[in-house]
Amino acid sequence: MSTVDDCRIIQLPMIHNRQGNITPINAGIDIAFDIKRVYYLYDVPGGAERGGHAHKQLRQLIVSVMGAFDVIVDDGTKRKTIHLDRAYRGLYIPTMIWRELDNFSSGAICLVLASLPYDENDYYRNYDEFLSATKSLKK
Ligand code: TYD
Repeated sequence: MSTVDDCRIIQLPMIHNRQGNITPINAGIDIAFDIKRVYYLYDVPGGAERGGHAHKQLRQLIVSVMGAFDVIVDDGTKRKTIHLDRAYRGLYIPTMIWRELDNFSSGAICLVLASLPYDENDYYRNYDEFLSATKSLKK
């Protein structure tokens, strides 16, 4: 089963010149999964919290392409907070990790690359249900 230690920062390529920067993300090269879906969070009001769920099969790469925010990851035993504030640094989150996103700076944009299409059945939205599922996986 995945642990919070499997949630790791991936250094993305950055092509820099005086006119600005480019960060390409190539599926299978810069990240280990094929990208089936891309979405982004924006216009997040001050003080808002996002996430508050885990996924059974979905893997994600989360990038702060603008501004900053915190991602709290939790494997049912351990919890850690990762601050994202660079467009060339992504947080990889494997399956069965509870995540919460907060402390969004004004104008922050959170880009998410996902390994699967949207499927509500892939979510644990209740923390206690997530905990029970992690316990039965550990047995
Ligand atoms: P959710 O994944 O809970 O958002 P967050 O983790 O950012 O707080 O999704 C919020 C709502 O948006 C929920 O009703 C499902 C819907 N949604 C889609 O329809 N498609 C998607 O790809 C995503 C990510 C969410």
